[in-house]
Amino acid sequence: MKKVFYILVLTLFLSCSKDDSSIASDEYVPTPLALDVPPLFDQKILAPTIPFTNPQTVEGVTLGKKLFFDTILSADNTQSCASCHAPENAFTDIDRFSVGIDGVLGNRNSMPLFNMAWNYDEKFFWDGRSFGLEQQALAPVENPIEMHNTWEQAVTDLQNTSDYPLLFQAAFNSSVITKELVAKAIAQFERTLISGNSKFDKHLLGTTTLTAQELNGFNVFMDETKGDCFHCHGSNNNPLWTDNIFHNNGLDAVFSDLGLGEVTGDPNDNGKFKSPSLRNLAFTAPYMHDGRFNTLDEVINHYSEGLQNSPTIDPLMKKVAQGGVQITVQEKADLKAFLLTLSDYEFINNPNFQN
Ligand code: HEC
Ligand code: HEC
Repeated sequence: MKKVFYILVLTLFLSCSKDDSSIASDEYVPTPLALDVPPLFDQKILAPTIPFTNPQTVEGVTLGKKLFFDTILSADNTQSCASCHAPENAFTDIDRFSVGIDGVLGNRNSMPLFNMAWNYDEKFFWDGRSFGLEQQALAPVENPIEMHNTWEQAVTDLQNTSDYPLLFQAAFNSSVITKELVAKAIAQFERTLISGNSKFDKHLLGTTTLTAQELNGFNVFMDETKGDCFHCHGSNNNPLWTDNIFHNNGLDAVFSDLGLGEVTGDPNDNGKFKSPSLRNLAFTAPYMHDGRFNTLDEVINHYSEGLQNSPTIDPLMKKVAQGGVQITVQEKADLKAFLLTLSDYEFINNPNFQN
């Protein structure tokens, strides 16, 4: 009896391994590509989110990059993703509101793109309405105030080129192009946009030193009796410099844009927007979901004495009755100097991310 069992197991084992090898030899597999994870991310936070249905590959990222910079996705071939998400601006743009192909202005400031594989709950946009990068990438092509195309047209145009069908073949083993594959490729490229080489990162790694002013600014940022910024925007223990959560940071008493409330339908969410990462602020002005502040001085003045009360203002917004945290002129200057140490010049100049 025992013997029969062993033979059975052996036969199963042999037949399985035979099947495996035949699959491996028939099926084309693109080259796996590991993300270039900064050391501080490894030490401090969890692994990146990569859906098992869209593994990172060399061919997928190459294709995604080409698509990201290609105006073929827009109806009149004038606009690419990079038109509003430019590498030199940490993948946002310098305009308050981005202009779509028809010259129509949106009502939101474009968002910088980096470290998106660490956006754990995968809610994208200022109001979190899009779940997952693969789903997000489907939106701009048909958005009437952005690329204003149809996916049918975009896919036909791609299919009719000489090079794209081959690139899709290499990336996904399919020369038949679909919008889902376009979105997968773009999402793969977006996950490679990783920023972890700021002056502050180097300070934490012990390879550079901060000035006395920058260090004092960090203390203002962390001190609950001063700036008290770290609850929502990260710290030396959270190298993303955001909590990726939605808050009302006291910009308005009455909301013209409901933000998260528009998405959930819950009035308790009105006026809440995603906390942006504070990395790369040197390149990403203007600031806030509607780009209302042109400078970091304006942002700091807002938190110090410009808060507007409303029913949904975050409990972490302190001293609302006095207008805010009330820091001194010197503390403001120090805070600004610290914030600028979070900018990553290697990221915006990375040759892998240029057109
Ligand atoms: C006309 C300008 C414009 C174009 C073109 C554009 N975007 Fe955007 N993008 C924006 C704006 C504005 C937002 C914020 C919108 C909002 O919150 O409602 C945004 C948000 C995003 C986000 C969310 C980031 C986050 O952290 O939540 C991603 C990802 C993104 N865009 C990727 C793309 C991709 C990929 C393309 C090309 C297929 C593209 N965008 C084309 C303006 C643009
Ligand atoms: C209660 C959470 C919370 C606290 C505390 C907080 N912020 Fe914010 N911060 C946000 C949210 C949410 C936004 C986006 C709001 C919007 O656009 O409607 C934001 C936006 C910003 C921006 C704009 C970034 C961009 O890319 O547009 C900067 C800069 C900033 N905060 C710095 C600070 C500083 C400095 C402090 C401390 C003085 C601070 N924040 C405290 C939640 C917070």
